[in-house]
Amino acid sequence: MDPEFWHARWAGNRIGFHRDAPLPLLTAHWPSLGLATDARVFVPLCGKSLDMVWLAGRGHAVLGVELSELAVRQFFEERGLAPRIVDGPAGRHYSAGPFELIVGDAFALAPSLLADCAGVYDRAALIALPPDLRRTYAGSAWHRLPPGCRGMLVTLEYPQTQKAGPPFSVGQDEVHALLDADWHVACLERRDILAGEPGFIADGVTALSTAVYRLERHDTSAAPRASVD
Ligand SMILES: C[S@@+](CC[C@H](N)C(=O)[O-])C[C@H]1O[C@@H](n2cnc3c(N)ncnc32)[C@H](O)[C@@H]1O
Repeated sequence: MDPEFWHARWAGNRIGFHRDAPLPLLTAHWPSLGLATDARVFVPLCGKSLDMVWLAGRGHAVLGVELSELAVRQFFEERGLAPRIVDGPAGRHYSAGPFELIVGDAFALAPSLLADCAGVYDRAALIALPPDLRRTYAGSAWHRLPPGCRGMLVTLEYPQTQKAGPPFSVGQDEVHALLDADWHVACLERRDILAGEPGFIADGVTALSTAVYRLERHDTSAAPRASVD
């Protein structure tokens, strides 16, 4: 997706992906990762997600990255927080309390910025990207997270021929193809959600599921890998 696509979505407030409550799948499955509650959690393509607020409520520090400065500003305004704003090589950092959100490109973050992230949470990030960018994303943001990092990935699965993304359908085979080189991947749950998604039904989609994966980063630092680094 072109960055302008997302800037236009935020400028026009066409943000149907934004939820006004934490994702129930997050609250149900996150504790099973067994992360220390003070672990720092990376949230790529974060928007102004309330999932970050839930993670902070558990004690986590949150590092988000988001293309849209409007989204980042709204996140802090809606919390009544006055962030400190500092420009850096990765973009403009907005920080307040447990939150540090970078206005920048998730594909361009240096490994040193992610080095202290022991957790990662992806909801509506991988599935927001078309196939070529999904490969770039896995080979950059995910590849640069440190060994031992644990996380959760939430995907959608539906017949892609019935609807154009985003959100895109990303099946289990593709999740493994994208991440197995660096991550141990285990599917925790797959749930039929079609009945609760009238927009998909109206578009003619006949089957829709969401899947939740648990991920743990191998130590592949010594192994060669074709990546976009
Ligand atoms: C579908 S939204 C999901 C937002 C959030 N994860 C949520 O659950 O509400 C995808 C977000 O990714 C942002 N985005 C797209 N490409 C990006 C990139 N390369 N780097 C950082 N953010 C990006 C968009 O601006 C948009 O806010």
